[in-house]
Amino acid sequence: MCGIFCLLSFSPVESPTDQRLHQNLSRRGPDSTQDLTVTHAHPFYRCLFSAHVLHMRGALTPQPERDAAGNVLLWNGEIFSGIAVAPEENDTRVMARQLSLCDTPAELLSVVSRVRGPWAFAYYQQAQHCLWFGRDFFGRRSLLWQFDAEAEALTLTSVGGDCSPTGADPWLEVPAAGVYRIDLKAGRVAGTGGVTLEVYPWATGGCGLPSPENVPSNCVATMNQWGLVLPSPVSPLNMLLPEVEVGVLPSSPPSSVVATDLEEVLASRERTGEVDHLNAVLSEAVRRRVQALPGDIRDQSLTDHASVAVLFSGGIDSMILAALADRHVPAGQPIDLLNVAFKLQEPKTQKQQSTKKKKKKPETDQNDPTTDSTNVPKVSEISSPFDVPDRLTGRAGLLELQALNPERRWNFVEVNVTQEELQRTRRERVRHLVQPLDTVLDDSIGCAMWFAARGEGFVTQDGDRTPFSSPAKVLLTGIGADEQLAGYSRHRVRFQTSGHQGLVQELGMELGRISSRNLGRDDRIIADHGKEARFPYLDEDVVDYLNSLPVWRKADLSLPRGVGEKLLLRQGARALGLGPSALLPKRAMQFGSRIAKMENSHERASDRCNRLLSA
Ligand SMILES: *[C@@H]1O[C@H](CO)[C@@H](O)[C@H](O)[C@H]1NC(C)=O
Ligand SMILES: *[C@@H]1O[C@H](CO)[C@@H](O)[C@H](O)[C@H]1NC(C)=O
Ligand SMILES: *[C@@H]1O[C@H](CO)[C@@H](O)[C@H](O)[C@H]1NC(C)=O
Repeated sequence: MCGIFCLLSFSPVESPTDQRLHQNLSRRGPDSTQDLTVTHAHPFYRCLFSAHVLHMRGALTPQPERDAAGNVLLWNGEIFSGIAVAPEENDTRVMARQLSLCDTPAELLSVVSRVRGPWAFAYYQQAQHCLWFGRDFFGRRSLLWQFDAEAEALTLTSVGGDCSPTGADPWLEVPAAGVYRIDLKAGRVAGTGGVTLEVYPWATGGCGLPSPENVPSNCVATMNQWGLVLPSPVSPLNMLLPEVEVGVLPSSPPSSVVATDLEEVLASRERTGEVDHLNAVLSEAVRRRVQALPGDIRDQSLTDHASVAVLFSGGIDSMILAALADRHVPAGQPIDLLNVAFKLQEPKTQKQQSTKKKKKKPETDQNDPTTDSTNVPKVSEISSPFDVPDRLTGRAGLLELQALNPERRWNFVEVNVTQEELQRTRRERVRHLVQPLDTVLDDSIGCAMWFAARGEGFVTQDGDRTPFSSPAKVLLTGIGADEQLAGYSRHRVRFQTSGHQGLVQELGMELGRISSRNLGRDDRIIADHGKEARFPYLDEDVVDYLNSLPVWRKADLSLPRGVGEKLLLRQGARALGLGPSALLPKRAMQFGSRIAKMENSHERASDRCNRLLSA
């Protein structure tokens, strides 16, 4: 993970680069920082490349990487497969070498589209006088852009913030629509002075071009003149519908379904080859993401420290990641489980709680599934204001993992956040990182994830609670499971109103927008700690496999909550030896961690969040 920055300007008047932006970028890549400027006289253009490197594996390779021909690469990515990278080799260098062999756009696209793994990059081709950039198919790495008409400058950066240079427009996320190319000699828009962005879209059947509101003002995105596209790294979503639409049951109130019933339902499902196949591709996805890390060096002093952590709620998605990480992380190394909780305002007595339940629920947009009694301990068992739902399921999950592998040291890191700390951190950091996203939901998830990823909290060992700071640079997160396996309650609603057809359409739409909804934001938030988010459920092979299955193989929403959604994954969890966690219903992070309860409960998740505005 790195922070990359590229300022392309067509005016010889130098604008000072924003020092603060520099600072924020170097938080993403604290291990090495370098700038490089390329200037061309006729016609005039200047490119400032700035790279901030977080050292993950191989030898530390400073960037920008410049080859003998004068080409310059900024690479914020990981090659997990597709292009061979030997264990002692560095993927930045491998990428630079591959790209420097390319002459034509078609050659360059063929290199870029072979990479399996997350990336954002910028590449200057000296002889061709052009600048290439883009984000991977899912948008797993952040890249923002902005055009400043006065300075005649286009900026690309991993993270923006709110202090954009005067005269410039707000930051926008570079749409993960494909790869972009700017012809530095000719690529200006007549009249506006903006930049013409040639698009090489992913071949997904859509129109391919980013919509104009996502393109910086004055600039224009056009289809490339050759009509070239990038082959999609995954097969298209299987839209097949069952021959007979199963009767859609009226949804029974989930609280009426007791755990033993769910158990029976799950047990009664036949374990098909699909369960094992999914576990196999997921396991491989986790392996690629946890091996060859700095902590693996056989240095005794290091084995005490985890090199891998899991953003951990104890729910099924994170439990599966932890169980699979256990297979691939060296036996002597601990695994950190990061569990975040926001202080409950006033611990309620049982009586207050039951009267409260009758009140109309304020969250209209996303129902709060924590009100389900399924698997959530009774209020009377709550002893600490930090015993939020995710803390309780997290502890239960820890016990399951300990049973699964008693030899492993599992560090269950309790991250407790008070309101004061939340407010301060939002103001000082999260506000800038979430940008350009701005909703109540972005605020809640952004803040919760920032604290969880920092990994500072307490660990209890042999009855002693001690302060703990997780050193793991790799963070596994479960994002993508719900979007692909129908985990959200809106999927159930959609299924009830429009059957499998509606459900399949919903799923297709969600994977398409995950880059702009979640991934850029999550990357900016997590990387702020000099750590790297990795998403096994969004591994190309995992998505490819899940896309190939008809929807009814992945979920059966005629079954109750806690078993029907993500059914295939739940069966997979059983096959891995997991216990009650396999039957937990989905609980969104903002509710599970109780951050949503800390704030104005009358707002909707999709409202603009006032707390994110400048203070
Ligand atoms: C290459 O080096 C950079 C910086 O040292 C590091 O972040 C990256 O993980 C390395 N990649 C590989 C494949 O070694
Ligand atoms: C960088 O972060 C600081 C807070 O640490 C913030 O004040 C500043 O606005 C950020 N810089 C940019 C360019 O966003
Ligand atoms: C953190 O929260 C847990 C409850 O989940 C509590 O037991 C613990 O004492 C808290 N730690 C601190 C330092 O407040």
